[in-house]
Amino acid sequence: MAGLKRILSGMRPSGKLHLGNYTGALENWVKNQEKFQNFHLVADWHVLTTAPEQTAHIWEDTIEMVIDWLAVGIDPEKSVIFVQSHVKEHAELFLLLSMLVTVPRLQRNPTVKEQIRELHLEDRVSFGHLGYPVLQAADILIYRAHYVPVGEDQVPHIELTREIARRFNTLYGKVFPEPQPMLTVFSRLPGLDASKMSKSQGNTILLSDDPETIQKKVRTAVTDPQKIRMGDPGHPEICTVFTYHKKFNAAEVSEIEKNCKKGVLGCVACKKNLADKLARYLAPFREKRAELEKDRKMIRDIIEDGNTRARKEAQETMRAVREAMKIGRMPDV
Ligand code: TRP
Repeated sequence: MAGLKRILSGMRPSGKLHLGNYTGALENWVKNQEKFQNFHLVADWHVLTTAPEQTAHIWEDTIEMVIDWLAVGIDPEKSVIFVQSHVKEHAELFLLLSMLVTVPRLQRNPTVKEQIRELHLEDRVSFGHLGYPVLQAADILIYRAHYVPVGEDQVPHIELTREIARRFNTLYGKVFPEPQPMLTVFSRLPGLDASKMSKSQGNTILLSDDPETIQKKVRTAVTDPQKIRMGDPGHPEICTVFTYHKKFNAAEVSEIEKNCKKGVLGCVACKKNLADKLARYLAPFREKRAELEKDRKMIRDIIEDGNTRARKEAQETMRAVREAMKIGRMPDV
C-alpha cells in the first residue's frame, strides 16, 4: 500500500443506504480501492450539527451503514473503515484549525447557508454547525489525504480545507498536502418522485430492498406526465424511470428509448422491466448483506481494527502538527 496516493472519504451514519448513495459515492469507493490507499470515515460527530438531540440511534445507523459498505465490496483489509468519534485526535486538530478561519468566511459557505435556510436556523445556528466545515477539514488533513470523493454540494468544504492547509503550512511549515475534490459522475440519481433521492423524502430504493419491495416502489415512480395511455408517445429524456434504465440497464436502453418515443412501450411494462433489472443488480449485495448481518461481532471488530489503524495515522500527523506549532508537546531538555 505504500506509495499509493491517499483518499479520505466520509459519510454521516444514515443507516441502510440507498441507490443514490451507491451511484454518488460507493461505486467509486469500490473502484478506487485498487489505485489508492483509502480511509473511509463514519462522520458521527457531524450528525450533531443538525440533530444534537438525536444520538440514540447513531451507533445502530453506523453498523447498518458499514454493513452496506462491506456488502457492495469495500474490502476492510485494503481500506480503513473507522468512526470519527473514536479517533479523538480529530477534535484536537479541529480546535487548532478553527483559529485559522474567520467567522465571515464560514458564513459565506454556500452549502452551510443553504442548510441554514432549509432548516430555518437563521438566528439560532449553533457554533458547531457553522464550524463543521472546519471539522471536515480536520477529518481530511489529519490523514494528509490527496483526494476527497464528493458530490457538488461538498466542493466548498474542500476549497476551505485547501485554504486552511495553505494557511497552516505558511504559518508553521509544510505539514499538509492540499487535497483535491474527486467529483462523481452519477452523483445525482433522482429519487422515485424525481426530486433528490433522500431518506427524509421517502423516495429511495435501498440497497437492501427485496425484489417485491423494488417492484412496489418502482410502480410509484414519476414518468413523463404527457404519456398517459400505452399508445401515447413518451419523452424519455424527462423520465425518471428512463434515467434509471440508463444507469442500470445499459444493454436495452436504446431500444427502450425508441419504443417509448414510438408509443409501443407502456410505462407499466417499462417499470416492471426496470424493477427486474434493479433486483438483479442488487441481488449480490443483498446476499452479502444477509451473511454479514449474522455476525455483528465481526462488523464491530472490523470497525475496531479500522479505528486502531486510523488512530495510528492521526497520531503521527498530530506529532508533526505539535512539532510545527511548538505547542502541546514537551520540548527536549
Ligand atoms: N460533511 C459530509 C456530508 O455531510 C460528511 C463528511 C464529514 C465528509 N467529514 C468528511 C466527507 C470528510 C468527506 C470528507 O456528507
